[in-house]
Amino acid sequence: MKKKILVTGGTGFIGSHTVVELQNAGFEPIIVDNLSNSSADVIDGIEKITGVRPKFVELDCNDMPALRALFLEEGNIAGVIHFAASKAVGESVEKPMLYYRNNLVSLLNIMDLMNEFGTKGFVFSSSCTVYGEPDVNPVTESAPVKPALSPYGNTKQIAEEIIRDASVAGVGYKSILLRYFNPIGAHPTTFIGELPNGVPQNLIPYLTQTAMGIRKELSVFGDDYNTPDGSCIRDYINVVDLAKAHVKALDRMLKDESDVALEVFNLGTGRGVSVLELINTFEQVTGVKVPHKIVGRRAGDIEKVWGSVEKANEVLGWKAVETLGDTLKSAWEWQLKLREKGLM
Ligand code: UFG
Repeated sequence: MKKKILVTGGTGFIGSHTVVELQNAGFEPIIVDNLSNSSADVIDGIEKITGVRPKFVELDCNDMPALRALFLEEGNIAGVIHFAASKAVGESVEKPMLYYRNNLVSLLNIMDLMNEFGTKGFVFSSSCTVYGEPDVNPVTESAPVKPALSPYGNTKQIAEEIIRDASVAGVGYKSILLRYFNPIGAHPTTFIGELPNGVPQNLIPYLTQTAMGIRKELSVFGDDYNTPDGSCIRDYINVVDLAKAHVKALDRMLKDESDVALEVFNLGTGRGVSVLELINTFEQVTGVKVPHKIVGRRAGDIEKVWGSVEKANEVLGWKAVETLGDTLKSAWEWQLKLREKGLM
């Protein structure tokens, strides 16, 4: 029988790609999402890719009675991957209470229910944001966690601490914290991808919308950083590669490959790429120009961060394989698809 995996936030960007990989790997994902930042159409996209329509329950993870009813109904949930969270850094500064409630109450609810119902494995979506401005790059999992620069970042740090404390105290399930670097791109079929609400805050959707003519110009936030070309450096990881790491993490816990109650892994490519380099690569692989101008620095931006991914390579047997060029091409093809569907 297929193992049931609850995927909270399963209609979101990383969640939807992970549901596809779970189905490909023979799991039975059950999607839970409140659709606050995604659409139920994503389920159609997943079905087109895999030929199987995943179960979807519209539910807010802050709603404990509804969540408990789902655990009861399903009976034997082997693992939970918890993506559901609010993720806009700027909004979190304006609405901190919303962020603490959305991102932490839901976590507590899920952790309680996993304990109560005997779930075996828990995968939590964390972020390289916990490293702040690292002292050394590539940054390893043992690097110190720096004070968060936003309530959003703080919710990720607090969530990690909650999960760690619960593991130390002894819970019935194992946990893996996945610290993502910058997830980009879309599924190569263009049936699923990123669907930002309103004006995008992240680089790639802003860039592809500019390339399409929806936005006039991309602002490059600063060219006076201490980096080779002066623009900020990040580790851009293909979303399908990233999704596959979740399956590896789940497998590790469900197959009892480790006795450790809690493990942490960086998920990136191990390579740092500057904003200007990225624009260049995009223009090369797509043949489309991206009008851009240099503007002042964005408050709160990290100068440079990229991940050491040796631990994930060795312990999870996972490695990012997609090139930056192919990943940017997939983001562009997704943007073209959105236009074709009249969504952009
Ligand atoms: N950038 C621009 N112009 C834009 C948007 C972004 O130059 O219009 C630059 C930023 O200055 C940064 C890079 O592109 O150097 C990437 O910016 P993003 O906003 O795409 O991503 P961030 O690295 O700032 O943040 C992302 C996620 C956060 C997460 C963080 C972890 O959005 O949720 O990575 O570092 F916390």
